[in-house]
Amino acid sequence: MRRILVIGIGAGDPRHMTVEAIEALNAADALFLLDKGGAKADLMQVREAICDRFLTNPACRRVIAPSPPRDAGGDYRAGVDAWHAEKAALYGAMIRDELGPEETGAILVWGDPALYDSTLRILDAIRAAGTVSFETRVIPGISAAQALAAAHGIPLNRIGVPVHFTTGRKIREAMPPADSVVFLDSGEALAEIAADGLDVFWGAYLGTPDEVLVAGALADVRDTILRIRAEKRAAKGWIMDIYLLRRREDPAEAQPSKSIARSGS
Ligand SMILES: C[S@@+](CC[C@H](N)C(=O)[O-])C[C@H]1O[C@@H](n2cnc3c(N)ncnc32)[C@H](O)[C@@H]1O
Repeated sequence: MRRILVIGIGAGDPRHMTVEAIEALNAADALFLLDKGGAKADLMQVREAICDRFLTNPACRRVIAPSPPRDAGGDYRAGVDAWHAEKAALYGAMIRDELGPEETGAILVWGDPALYDSTLRILDAIRAAGTVSFETRVIPGISAAQALAAAHGIPLNRIGVPVHFTTGRKIREAMPPADSVVFLDSGEALAEIAADGLDVFWGAYLGTPDEVLVAGALADVRDTILRIRAEKRAAKGWIMDIYLLRRREDPAEAQPSKSIARSGS
């Protein structure tokens, strides 16, 4: 039976690769890589740096295909579903055509496959469609949420306080009652949230030489974050950022403002 290893590669620093992830990488007969091209070429380069550094199996083949673009216009859910269907067709064909019946393929997933990544759902859809049969094994990786907490030197949760994982899009609809880790914000949610009583721990390009961190009362540091965000995005052509919103237990005890960049910002 074919086997697909879904390997979490961490959030940008090749050193996030766990021993289990390195072993899985070297157990693969073929690596399936989707290239987003354009400004996102940096993300492909991280995957290539990981292979150059950790792939010691000379027999492993790299199978690279252009990643289908996502149509960001129109209905959000319909756009995502169509995008996933295209990816399922692509991965299905790769697994069927590029992998022998007893071979192992690997897909390198940014961060951890369990958080805001659809690879496992897409593989389920391929199996359900009966295109090709295979088994799956997941190798966990360091998520951007963990990289954020580590970079700020904080636990994500406080004792007895729940933490919510969400996206910029959802938080614009309604603020969750819990502390929140916010993925996938284009900056619009951060710009709009009512700042009263909230601290923020923000990080962009975590684990990379461009890493930049800001923390403080949201009311005090929001403009700084939005300025750095806009400048960095313009300079690099893309940005990946994430933040923890924490509701102060004592409204008078705001988080002191802090801004740290690995390279100048
Ligand atoms: C499609 S999700 C992938 C999440 C990934 N599976 C994980 O576990 O981190 C992409 C979002 O993750 C966050 N992210 C991923 N890598 C990041 C990094 N190095 N620095 C900051 N945010 C990052 C950003 O919110 C970005 O918009």
